[in-house]
Amino acid sequence: MVKANAYGHGILEVSKIALRAGADWLGVNSLEEGIILRKKGFDCPILIVGYIPLDGLKGAVIHDLRLIVYNFEPVDRLARICRLLQKKALLHLKVETGTYRQGIREEDVLTLIRKVQEFPELVIEGVSSHFANIEDTTDHTYAKFQLESFQRVLQILKDNNVEVPIKHISCTASAILFPETYFDMVRTGIGMYGLWPSKETYLSCLSQKRKPVFLKPVLSWKAKIAQIKKVPRGAFIGYGCTYRTTRETLLAVLSVGYYDGYDRSLSNLSYVLIRGMRAPLRGRVAMNFIMVDVTDIPGAKLEDEVVLIGEDGEDVISADELASLVGTINYEIVTRINPHVARIIV
Ligand SMILES: Cc1ncc(COP(=O)(O)O)c(C=O)c1O
Repeated sequence: MVKANAYGHGILEVSKIALRAGADWLGVNSLEEGIILRKKGFDCPILIVGYIPLDGLKGAVIHDLRLIVYNFEPVDRLARICRLLQKKALLHLKVETGTYRQGIREEDVLTLIRKVQEFPELVIEGVSSHFANIEDTTDHTYAKFQLESFQRVLQILKDNNVEVPIKHISCTASAILFPETYFDMVRTGIGMYGLWPSKETYLSCLSQKRKPVFLKPVLSWKAKIAQIKKVPRGAFIGYGCTYRTTRETLLAVLSVGYYDGYDRSLSNLSYVLIRGMRAPLRGRVAMNFIMVDVTDIPGAKLEDEVVLIGEDGEDVISADELASLVGTINYEIVTRINPHVARIIV
């Protein structure tokens, strides 16, 4: 899964590496992401898992992008487009198994299939679903209930002689915990970037008899010191004067802000690493700058490298740590890094 700019890591960079490492397909969210890949020469199968507006269907067919289908509305239009372009469209049905996001109800699956089958230019290549509650808990009763619902649909297809070659439901957490969810394809996202879907997934993995999975985050996020200045005791730092120094302070101004994806809720809360030491944020995160206290970091100077996420010396600031400071998940921390920030592959 390289959707959302490859979880913020850089869609082109990651796609290249993923394919070289053995991925067969790429999964994107939008038509636009699919087209970006095609225009850069990626000719592997690409599945769009998000919503394609009706007026985007033509683009998907033109660029040979596989589509997830869970509505009746696109079917006629897709068939017309295919006839016009003399192309086939490869469709993956998405079944509602209890997430109540995209998906067609179990009782409507066959009707949708019969409608698609009216058109020889439409091929049902896959049937899929997605888990709702596999990361957030160590109790996987609901995931098992969804898996059973998915299996029921597969049985309905079998009983009605509907052959669908690719069945897929698994994300990272299920790929780590439940081999019975693999079927014909696994849609791994967060784990591919070396991040755990959650603490609960990690704990569930440890509690299994199998050898635990080892994940190492691949992303570091860095900025530079843009200015160093002495600030007197009692000075107010940044917008809103939300921090007042309690001592004479050596302050470093850093060239990163909420525009770049550094969450404004981290104001006065988080740390960065400079020369292997933690420097606390002082004042609000601004659009393009943050300020940190470097009084206790000897030698800190202009243009020093600053680690916002990643390792420096003995210490590490993880996406998970930032996520827990602002009450979100590591997924959001990394996907929010603005695409304009240069991605450098090491
Ligand atoms: C449809 C679909 N499949 C797979 C994934 C990958 O999930 P994960 O990143 O937990 O592996 C996602 C992520 O949100 C998704 O929406």
